[in-house]
Amino acid sequence: MEKQKSTIRQRADEIKDHRCKNLIAVIEEPNDIKNIGTIIRNVNALGVEKTYIVDSRKALPDDWQEMRERKSLSKTSVSAIKWSFVKRFDSTEECLGHLEKNRFISVVTSPHVKGKENCILHETDYTKFTRLAVWFGNESRGISDLAVERSQFCVSIPMFGMIESLNLGTTSGIVLYEITKQRRAYQLKYKRANRGPNKSINFVPAAPDS
Ligand SMILES: C[S@@+](CC[C@H](N)C(=O)[O-])C[C@H]1O[C@@H](n2cnc3c(N)ncnc32)[C@H](O)[C@@H]1O
Repeated sequence: MEKQKSTIRQRADEIKDHRCKNLIAVIEEPNDIKNIGTIIRNVNALGVEKTYIVDSRKALPDDWQEMRERKSLSKTSVSAIKWSFVKRFDSTEECLGHLEKNRFISVVTSPHVKGKENCILHETDYTKFTRLAVWFGNESRGISDLAVERSQFCVSIPMFGMIESLNLGTTSGIVLYEITKQRRAYQLKYKRANRGPNKSINFVPAAPDS
């Protein structure tokens, strides 16, 4: 038991500096527990800081501890839920209000052209915003108009097949891989620049035209 604890502590220390600070994945009204579990697993594996879930059906518990002990989530996330911060909201409005109060910029994902500005996943810079929330929509309805309206831009993964969209869980892996890759490299660059007596990471947004 002691040995297991120290291995877990060692791993936690190793990954600490590689987690992406101020990055949140938001799942809006997911229906399928398998997709929720897959996203939590991807969030944990890729070093995203938190998962927020808009759950107006109240399918999930409010209490974090209860959420972590939920068998269905533990099973579908392959226990990643135990090591993840997950918070639920009653509505999109409530979640957006919370994010905006905490100075997070939202971006939505969709296979369709939506909102003010549309971007291709791998052609976009995700380091411009210190605090970033990435939204994923419902399995059949997609992302809501409200989330689109209150977001900076809409990100798409180009589609080259006959079907309209990717699976929700699959999308989260592809999108979060690109975003965490960019933000991790940016964080590490600033960390290196700040090495010296003070080792804190000064994670500031890039200048507009740099
Ligand atoms: C199965 S899709 C929803 C399809 C829905 N008919 C629609 O109109 O969006 C579920 C979610 O996965 C994400 N998604 C799926 N394919 C995507 C793609 N090619 N680019 C970006 N996001 C995608 C979006 O967040 C979407 O809301």
